[in-house]
Amino acid sequence: MLELLPPPPTDPLWDLTYEFGTDERLERLNLVLGVYRDHTGSTPVMAAVREAEIRLAERSESKEYRGLSGNEAFNQALLTLVMGPGPGGPADRAAAVQTVAGTGALRLLADLICRTRPGTTVWISDPAYVNHRPILEAAGLEVRTYRWRAADGGFDASGMLHDLSGARREDVVLLQGCCHNPTGVDPSPQDWEAVAELAVRDGWVPFVDLAYHGLGDGLDADLRATRMLAERVPEMLIAVSCSKNFGLYSDRTGCAIVLGASRQAVRHAETAMQNAARTLYSMPPEHGAAVVTTILEDDVLRAAWRAELDVMRGRISANRAELAVCLTALGHGAQADALARQKGMFSMLPLTAHQMLRLRREFAIYGTTAGRVNIAGIPADRIACLAQGIAQVLDTGDPLGGR
Ligand SMILES: Cc1ncc(COP(=O)(O)O)c(C=O)c1O
Repeated sequence: MLELLPPPPTDPLWDLTYEFGTDERLERLNLVLGVYRDHTGSTPVMAAVREAEIRLAERSESKEYRGLSGNEAFNQALLTLVMGPGPGGPADRAAAVQTVAGTGALRLLADLICRTRPGTTVWISDPAYVNHRPILEAAGLEVRTYRWRAADGGFDASGMLHDLSGARREDVVLLQGCCHNPTGVDPSPQDWEAVAELAVRDGWVPFVDLAYHGLGDGLDADLRATRMLAERVPEMLIAVSCSKNFGLYSDRTGCAIVLGASRQAVRHAETAMQNAARTLYSMPPEHGAAVVTTILEDDVLRAAWRAELDVMRGRISANRAELAVCLTALGHGAQADALARQKGMFSMLPLTAHQMLRLRREFAIYGTTAGRVNIAGIPADRIACLAQGIAQVLDTGDPLGGR
């Protein structure tokens, strides 16, 4: 049977990661994958996570099956984290289902859209997170794009609003709530207001992907746009990942949130997601969810986690600022300003595919072909080298022309 399988395409990000693994140069630098690295270049287990794991190990008594929505305490804790505490808010008309990390949440919500209205059009940003289109298309949805980044490296408000004015009432618009991957470009609060006005006026459903909250301007600031949208629109979908802000990458922890206009609609949506999960993996893994719940339900541990998250965020912005200083000193002030204004783990360098290849070949610096680099992955003592590499490939231009 397997002889019939034509050679399938491989994943370009993981291909680069494997290539990096075989690169024997000591100075090699991996800025491909989106993981936080501390000043030594390692991705440590957060202290709050370690403490929660110790507590769980001491008190764990059973590994019995959970229900199809996973760990209910985790779902409630994440609903409160995302929507904010207090009764009477959007959380009162929401349901949450634990998922296999953010990817699982995106896929479960995509399945929910397809079960509700097959062939629905979902709008994604251009450029988008590499897995958005494949996930949506695998679920049977149509994909269209809206502009996101302006030529000066800022947010393209007029381009986005113009493109989205073509979205119809029955469409869904996928928005990254903060720290846009891959550009690092986020809308201002006024821009978010304009997006909300459009959603209310035209009736399309916002679908917010939250993968980096806490790593841009701070946890509450990063969730402000999502909470504002949730107050304004009758229906909304939210995919939440705990991979980055709890450092639980391999524990595959996340949740899918649905906000509806009526309790019945929300209940139906929850059951539809449970049904989808049942045919995929039945229920999600418990460990990461138990860790997050232990942290969020304990005031002291929650405060410790938030403090650690602030340190991570501070390191990312310090890396951005330092890279900008170095690039400015090397005569690339305009590019530096854009990088300094962007938010979160990623930015796209203003380099062509050929120049990104040169960075890899000549400087052992690995970013994606499209120019994306993980700002959180640069050890402090390598920032100057990165700036020099970027400046050198910019100064010599691209003999092949554009990207
Ligand atoms: C924008 C965005 N959404 C979702 C995800 C999925 O994250 P995970 O499945 O690891 O939680 C990522 C991961 O990089 C991402 O960048």
